Amino acid sequence: MDENLGCPVLITGNEHSRFLSERYGYKEWMISRFLNFIPYPERMLDYINDSKNLHHYIRVNTLRTNPQVLKRRLGEKGYHLSDTVLKEVFEIKNPSYGDIKIKDAGSMIAHHNNNDNNDNYNEATTQTDYDLQSGKDRNLGPKQASIGSTIEYLRGYYYIQDLSSCIAVEELEIHDGQDLVVLDMAAAPGGKTTHIAQKLNNKGAIFACESNSNRLSSLFFNLSRCFVHNTIVLNTRAEEINELELQFDRVLLDAPCTCEGIIMKDESRKKSRNLEDLETCSKRQKKMIVSGFNALKPNGLMIYCTCSFAPEENEMIIQHLLSNHKDAKIEPLNYGMNGLTSFSKYQFAEKMVYTKRFYPHIHATNGFFIAKIRKKPE
Ligand SMILES: C[S@@+](CC[C@H](N)C(=O)[O-])C[C@H]1O[C@@H](n2cnc3c(N)ncnc32)[C@H](O)[C@@H]1O
Repeated sequence: MDENLGCPVLITGNEHSRFLSERYGYKEWMISRFLNFIPYPERMLDYINDSKNLHHYIRVNTLRTNPQVLKRRLGEKGYHLSDTVLKEVFEIKNPSYGDIKIKDAGSMIAHHNNNDNNDNYNEATTQTDYDLQSGKDRNLGPKQASIGSTIEYLRGYYYIQDLSSCIAVEELEIHDGQDLVVLDMAAAPGGKTTHIAQKLNNKGAIFACESNSNRLSSLFFNLSRCFVHNTIVLNTRAEEINELELQFDRVLLDAPCTCEGIIMKDESRKKSRNLEDLETCSKRQKKMIVSGFNALKPNGLMIYCTCSFAPEENEMIIQHLLSNHKDAKIEPLNYGMNGLTSFSKYQFAEKMVYTKRFYPHIHATNGFFIAKIRKKPE
């Protein structure tokens, strides 16, 4: 086994990578790497550069409602929802309802809470703006909440979540409220925990680890908003989970990562990370995946995912597990582009093609990576 697996690979830049990094505002080491493993890298840089290309998705919380009812309710309020490959996930074309900016979302939330049964509040209010030319207030038409402040959102009918993240949970193979014990190793703010809970129909149990106590309130808020009743939150480092001597039917490791895949949502990441950060993340991911795998029951299933493009955080982590655990086997996934079978001087297992990569310019999602790992039966 190669102990260097996961050490960041620095690829020497050239005139072209310098040109692209200046043009799009990235650190050059990122661009010279992208040019080596991302399909149509220039198309991606161009795509990411235009915020109009950003796609928005919501996942219906089936503990509270069903897709048809939510689609109708939000449709009546003027939101345009379209179907995706997952029946519980919609793409939402106008998340802030066109260009109308809501200036007083706080008071609207108070309005929602006081009028729990009034579903037509949007039609009851209008929005005005001061018109400089006439010196009068202009009527801008019906006031519309952004998709993160509708009554349906506050009641936990849906979660705003990227399609790629929803696919990760879908691949955990939890069917119709099975009575399973699930470990979510990196849980806050709870997007995937709440999704697992709805797959379990609030049965079984979820152990949700989150090491950062500052992020616990968002996790508790979402668990309670989404009516999740089967989750135990552990404010601990997931690497320490084996000390509890518990065994799980399913393990999800949505690993803390460099987040290269969400640059479209957070431009600061074009410049804010360096190779040391990549190394820190990769080292931690190797420890976490081994702990998670050790806590898996024989024949149990683990999903490893990141919102990073970096092979050091993705295929190399899976290769690290395979090299150390002969009872780990990669299983095929239904969506995405094949994982890499080599990078720089490294060759990975042939079955690494079963892991999947998602790209904004190809899949209209965040940049994302998913691997599905089965622990062989004893
Ligand atoms: C990618 S985010 C998780 C997102 C979450 N799964 C969701 O879908 O909403 C990674 C989380 O892992 C947490 N984290 C970082 N290191 C950790 C560790 N060693 N053990 C457990 N959680 C950790 C971070 O604080 C962060 O909240």
